[in-house]
Amino acid sequence: MNETIDLLMNHRSIRQFKDESLTDEQIKTIIQAGQAASTSSYYQAYTIIGVTDDKLKRQLREVSGQEYVEHNGHLFVFCADLNRMYQSQDVETQEKMKDNIENTEFFMMSTIDATLAAQNAAVASESLGLGICYLGSLRNDINRVNELLSLPQYVIPLFGMAVGVPDEEPDVKPRFDFNAIYHENGYQDHTKHVEQFNKTTEQYYEDRSFNTKVDNWSKQVERKLSKPMRMDVTDFVKQKGLNKR
Ligand SMILES: Cc1cc2nc3c(=O)[nH]c(=O)nc-3n(C[C@H](O)[C@H](O)[C@H](O)COP(=O)(O)O)c2cc1C
Repeated sequence: MNETIDLLMNHRSIRQFKDESLTDEQIKTIIQAGQAASTSSYYQAYTIIGVTDDKLKRQLREVSGQEYVEHNGHLFVFCADLNRMYQSQDVETQEKMKDNIENTEFFMMSTIDATLAAQNAAVASESLGLGICYLGSLRNDINRVNELLSLPQYVIPLFGMAVGVPDEEPDVKPRFDFNAIYHENGYQDHTKHVEQFNKTTEQYYEDRSFNTKVDNWSKQVERKLSKPMRMDVTDFVKQKGLNKR
């Protein structure tokens, strides 16, 4: 269609990287491309932390249990950040702002802002020939990540992103049918789409070029959601002062 759409449609997560660090110029370009994303009311309510310290990277890998958190070209951690806005005001205004900052609406705004910046950064990285993998696994111990990165009040780590020169070429993973995701004029029944997508994913896992297995989308959802997962996140977020009301 065009180069940008081709790039987007060719996305696949990369979990094995060459031993090659990103240059300062690449890092700056990726972050600035992230910053160019739309942002709620111009707030820019996020912070991106680059992790360059080897010990810190190892500690974050231990939290995630994923090798590529340590071995990559660069590791970014995307944080929702309402601290900057809060700190920008005098004490009297800060008091008035608390009702907003501590409610669900602003929690959502900051997570949306951070995520839009992250996806821009991901696409920018891929356009430079790099590969990326998002890392929600950092929330396996969100309190530990908070401590390791010295995050203040009103700042929470959302996810990491490993970026680097790909050392693997995984297959592109199928997505739901267009009509499963795009509904016109209201929500539509999705039963038939799920059945269809289970067949598609069964085929994909059977045919893909590495790590073939018998699996499908519904089975994955069942395995992941049938047991409590990261139940400490709710209390953590509230302790940080967000999503409280
Ligand atoms: C917010 C977020 C967190 C993710 N966390 C992880 C993770 O911790 N580890 C991992 O290997 N992949 C992670 N992924 C990657 C997804 O598993 C992946 O995007 C999905 O399976 C689709 O595969 P694809 O990206 O290759 O198309 C994450 C993706 C997102 C968007």
